[in-house]
Amino acid sequence: MPTLDLARFPRLPLLALPTPIEPLDGLAAHLGDTLNGVRIFVKRDDVAGIGLGGNKLRKLEYLLGAAKAAGADTAITVGAIQSNHARLTAAATARAGLACELFLTRSVPRQDLDYTGNGNRLLDDVFGATVHELPGEADSLAAAEARATELRAEGRAVYTFPSGGSSPTGCLGYANCAAEILAQAEDLGLSFAQIVTANGSAGTHAGLVSGLAAMDIDPRLAKSYAVLAEEGRARAEVLEKANATLALIGAARRVTAQEIDLDGRHRGPGYGIPTAGMLEAVRLLARTEGKLLDPVYSGKAFAGLLHDVRGGLYPAGSAVLFLMTGGTPGIFAYKDALAG
Ligand SMILES: Cc1ncc(COP(=O)(O)O)c(C=O)c1O
Repeated sequence: MPTLDLARFPRLPLLALPTPIEPLDGLAAHLGDTLNGVRIFVKRDDVAGIGLGGNKLRKLEYLLGAAKAAGADTAITVGAIQSNHARLTAAATARAGLACELFLTRSVPRQDLDYTGNGNRLLDDVFGATVHELPGEADSLAAAEARATELRAEGRAVYTFPSGGSSPTGCLGYANCAAEILAQAEDLGLSFAQIVTANGSAGTHAGLVSGLAAMDIDPRLAKSYAVLAEEGRARAEVLEKANATLALIGAARRVTAQEIDLDGRHRGPGYGIPTAGMLEAVRLLARTEGKLLDPVYSGKAFAGLLHDVRGGLYPAGSAVLFLMTGGTPGIFAYKDALAG
């Protein structure tokens, strides 16, 4: 069994690992032969830990580990108004005893109160973060850096997390997850044809790729459906972040663009804009499994996976693992699309 030793990187535990892997028996019974004999399993990164959970916690374990090791007393990060990363940064910094400031851009064209005040945005306040809202076209990272400079001048020790937590340090969380999945698959007697995730800021896919490559496993075992950037840019981001993470891990191996399996066809008209496939996927999983996808990320990715399974991409008898990445609060920001 290949292993990956990341013990030298400081890590602040935020969730109980390993997260469970479960079959989607209810979905299989409902969809029957249309799944072409493919078994879909889910990894429950949506339920573990604090702040209503989600994939960002694995990244935050390493980001906050590094921040604490550097003596930080304040964390600043950026995202969209309904950012799951911002919400979980607010929760995790509260847990770690750091102050938190969030720079949130109005990048999705929505002005209604469900979007601007409910879901993740409401939780940012509940977790006690200081929130700065910016116009959609604003450079939030530059604003965050300017604020960091200001706070440092006041004597504060500030650590800035990148968009989506997807720096090489953050990506370590999903390198670790790749090793976790391989060990669980062996215990369960399963061999996954692919491990599938949503792709926003590329760090989840890049982390998986780097972990697999560092263990000498084909990086195409991981696949993502892009929901933010268009396909070419998303692939370039995964490639760059995976190789930077491999360098951080100290592995000699690097990956090429041909080794990044990524599909950009299920994003629809744009980031955060509902698609028919997303609505079908969210309702199907809710109504056959009692499990929640989210409208912005995992709903679109699961729609992509369903499309490909129905289209015969995987041979009968194969097993595919879908990462449930959380984002549940986003449901409350999409009442008009999901109600009824
Ligand atoms: C619920 C959810 N799923 C998936 C993703 C995608 O992760 P990444 O940004 O690492 O590509 C995100 C990112 O914000 C997310 O919030």
